[in-house]
Amino acid sequence: MINSSDLTLSAIGTDIKRKSADTLVLGVLKTDGKATVVASPFTSETTSSLEQSLTALGATGKADEVTLLPGVEGSKVKVLLVIGLGVAELAELTNEQLRRAAGSAARQLSNAKTAIFALPSDSVERVAAIAEGIALGSYRYENHRSTKSEKPVLAEAQIVTSVATSKDLPALLKRAAVLGRAVRATRDLINAPANVLYPESFATAVKDYSKSLPLKVTVLDEKRLAKDGFGGLLGVGGGSVRQPRLVKVEYSPAKATKHIALIGKGITFDTGGTSLKPAAGMHAMKSDMSGAAAVFQTVAAVAELGLNIKVTAWLCLAENMPGGASTRPGDVLTMFGGKTVEVLNTDAEGRLVMADGLAAASLEKPDVMIDIATLTGAQMLALGLRTAGIMGESQVTKDLVAVSDQVGELAWPMPLPEELRPSIESQVADLANIGERMGGMMTAAVFLNEFVGEVDGKKIPWAHIDFAGPAFNEGSAWGYTPKNGTGSQVRTLVAYAEQLAAN
Ligand code: BES
Ligand code: MN
Ligand code: ZN
Repeated sequence: MINSSDLTLSAIGTDIKRKSADTLVLGVLKTDGKATVVASPFTSETTSSLEQSLTALGATGKADEVTLLPGVEGSKVKVLLVIGLGVAELAELTNEQLRRAAGSAARQLSNAKTAIFALPSDSVERVAAIAEGIALGSYRYENHRSTKSEKPVLAEAQIVTSVATSKDLPALLKRAAVLGRAVRATRDLINAPANVLYPESFATAVKDYSKSLPLKVTVLDEKRLAKDGFGGLLGVGGGSVRQPRLVKVEYSPAKATKHIALIGKGITFDTGGTSLKPAAGMHAMKSDMSGAAAVFQTVAAVAELGLNIKVTAWLCLAENMPGGASTRPGDVLTMFGGKTVEVLNTDAEGRLVMADGLAAASLEKPDVMIDIATLTGAQMLALGLRTAGIMGESQVTKDLVAVSDQVGELAWPMPLPEELRPSIESQVADLANIGERMGGMMTAAVFLNEFVGEVDGKKIPWAHIDFAGPAFNEGSAWGYTPKNGTGSQVRTLVAYAEQLAAN
């Protein structure tokens, strides 16, 4: 199921005359509608003749623009791939723009097993951004094709830089490789069709992948879920022949003093259940397990990086299907911990499985809980397709938004308005699973808030990430983001763990 091929990232000095590779990547600025080469490894004559060719071909230097040219004097490489950096001046170029440019180039390399990247790289931060972009952009999903593409996937990238010998680089390159592998593995899980990836097979994939890492995996099957009272997971997943699972993945280094719990929505397919969704576009609901995939690969990356912090990922896995055993509108479920919920719409299923996950995670008294889910269509109405909404306790929310900005993942803070709380009252149970439609992303978060536990009378610090839009890209690829599963938020969650481990 997880197929992420290996990629070697290394840094080399600026004398590239004798270096060989299938393709050499160059970056161009967008200067007055013309493309100008920066960080050129060539003489000024060669560089200006390259710029003349670029002008003749109409290159402008805008982001994601690729121009292919034949090799030139000063390098053995026969193909040049010129990528737009999207800014007019080098000083304006942010690390994220550089990450996207490197990723866009890596993604659009069509026939290269090896490549040299000569992009602006005058600091270790910039080299790290290039390395991450390459590791994120180089991705292909063809697990279900009977004939695989004959073109190679990038296996070896060399980054040209004047700081190649810096002692900080090896750790940053390793981090880029680990993050890239985690994000690509997350995409593989999201892209897997729901007849292949269902709760039981997802649990098996987690166990298999975790064997080579210092992780402890515990799987609760439907019998155990019933015994322990996981009414949310069973109410949502009980209507499918693919029964639900709760998977707990723990990374617990001996010296850790802090503990983060990550809870991920893992609806392996969301038909809506009895409250059936319309047929158009329903296939994209195979991605409704993106939160579970993200928390799993986050704990895997944290383990691979050997961070000194305990991280527990809770994967709330169920398939939401209509059927004779499905929950009906009006049914009342008793959730883990004893609260009751009247299900007024079986398509608001994510909050039901997440409620069980949040309540179970709370019993371990973690220092912080972060849940992540493709929870509401309202997220996309509020923030669009690329920006995740983050809401919850104010400090965790602020910290997460700041981290996402640093790593270049788009996110925005949203409130938990108290006036929404009465809308999820039920006539017959403790709560209803739907409420006010206006601001529906926040209504869902207000519901989840009810299942965040307390330690010594104080609520566990918690934040909720709704990434219904960012998790799955139905539009065109851009930067390092491919079509379909994106792997969004893994880097934010890993960076958050890094920061907590360092403080
Ligand atoms: N998985 C969906 C949310 C979703 C929609 C994610 C589109 C990605 C793309 C979720 O389970 C859902 O169906 N939510 C409902 C909630 C409503 C019934 C209160 C929604 O947003 O329409
Ligand atoms: Mn739904
Ligand atoms: Zn859903």
